[in-house]
Formats: sequence, structure tokens, C-alpha cells
Amino acid sequence: MNPATAPRIRPNPRFRWLVPAALIFLSLVPIIAGAVRLGELSGGEIRPDNARFFDSPVPVLIHIPTVTLYLVLGAFQFVSPLRRGKRGRPSWHKVAGRILAPTGLLAALSGLWMAVFYDLPPLDGPLLLILRLVFGSAMVAFIVLGFIAVRRHNYVRHSEWMSRAYAIGIAQGTIVVVTIPWIVLVGPVTELTRALLIGASWVLSLAVAEYFIYRRAHGAEQKLRRSVQPV
Ligand code: HEM
Repeated sequence: MNPATAPRIRPNPRFRWLVPAALIFLSLVPIIAGAVRLGELSGGEIRPDNARFFDSPVPVLIHIPTVTLYLVLGAFQFVSPLRRGKRGRPSWHKVAGRILAPTGLLAALSGLWMAVFYDLPPLDGPLLLILRLVFGSAMVAFIVLGFIAVRRHNYVRHSEWMSRAYAIGIAQGTIVVVTIPWIVLVGPVTELTRALLIGASWVLSLAVAEYFIYRRAHGAEQKLRRSVQPV
């Protein structure tokens, strides 16, 4: 089936707003942590645990606002009625997308910048650095591929790449979901378990995105088959 012409699956309208609500809920912890860090940078005291942010504030001052905007605005890109424009006007999805692509790139690139140039804090080791380089670069690549797909009017591929990029971003919220049970059941994290839990959050978020991508493609195929069956 040509993905560009595949029929769209319409989710149950009752659940339409549940998706952005759940995604924003998942983002709350990193967003609040970011706001606290910004507050600290605008007049807090310099301590050994935050000195790296004061020494080089530019990337973190780019990172926190861009990740916040990316996660909150990005959550609404999954609402299908927002993709339809009215009376020749561009849709909400299109306008937001023009903001989100550069915002997502800045979020990932500033993260990569900090990963490479900041001194590693006590619980961050080389494994976490490698994972950040891999997933941060993948986020950049997925946004670029999503942008190329939309320029080619291949909206299915566009949605797939952008969903994968968003999954890498939202994994910052998934970290809380995987880390809290670990701490409760196993105990405090070490450098190794912290890196593995953060890596697992990225893998888990991407697996969920792949599941929805597969379900959508599979559902579209079944719908097409039913529509061409003789009556
Ligand atoms: C889009 C979702 C993301 C959110 C919500 C997010 C959130 C945050 C927050 C709140 C901080 C400040 C941490 C603190 O104050 O201690 C931070 C720092 C950082 N982020 Fe992100 N981030 C995201 C994506 C990424 C990505 C994709 C990378 C991969 C390279 C990354 C790498 C970093 C690094 C290296 C730091 C500095 C960590 C430190 O030195 O303690 N972030 N992020």
C-alpha cells in the first residue's frame, strides 16, 4: 500500500484529548524540574552540584524552555481534528509544526552540547554519555526525516518520524515511571543502574511509539481491504 494514500484511522472522539492530557501529565516532572533549575539560575546560590550550569548557562537556558515547549505543544500534534485547516487557513497542526521542528532541534542539540561539554556530575558516567549521544542524535535525525517527509507530502512517513522524535523527548517523563518502582523495590540507583534505567526509558517510549505506528498502518490496511472487497 502506498503510505501517502493510506486511509486515516479515526480514533474514538471520546479519547481524543486523553492522549495530549496523558503526555502532558508524563512531562510534568521534567518540566517542573526545569522550572526549578531556571529559578535557581536566576539568582540562586552556586553550589558544587549546580556549578556546571552557572559556568556555562547558555545551553541549559536554551534546553529548558525548548524541551518544555516541545513536550507541551507537541502533545497536541496527536489530536487529529487539529490537523484540519478551516476556510483556506492553515491548520493548528501545521502552525504548531513550524514552531515544533526548530524547537525540537534546539532541545536535542542543546542536550547534546551539555552532554559533551559539561563536567559529568557524580551519578553520570560514560555509559549515560553514550546513550545521550545516541538518542539525542536520533532525535535530531528523526525531526529532519519528518521534515523531509512533509516537504514531499508523505504525511504517513512524516507522522511516523515525528512520533519517534517525540518519543525520545517524552522519555524524560518515562524515566520517573521506571525509576520510582526501581527505588521502591530495589533501592537507590548507582551510576550503572541510573544509565540503564534512562536507556530503558528511551527504549520503552520508542517501543510504545512503534506499537502505535504499527497499529495505525495495520488498521489502515484492513480498512482498505474491507473497502475493496466485493459485496
Ligand atoms: C525533550 C525532552 C527533554 C526534557 C524534558 C529534558 C529535561 C531536562 C532538564 C529539566 C534538565 C535540567 C536538569 C537539572 O536541572 O539537573 C536537563 C538537562 C540535560 N539534558 Fe535534557 N531534556 C530533554 C531532552 C534531552 C535529550 C534528548 C538529551 C540528549 C542529549 C538531553 C540531555 C541533557 C543533558 C546532558 C543535561 C545536563 C545534565 C546535567 O549536567 O545534569 N536532554 N534536561
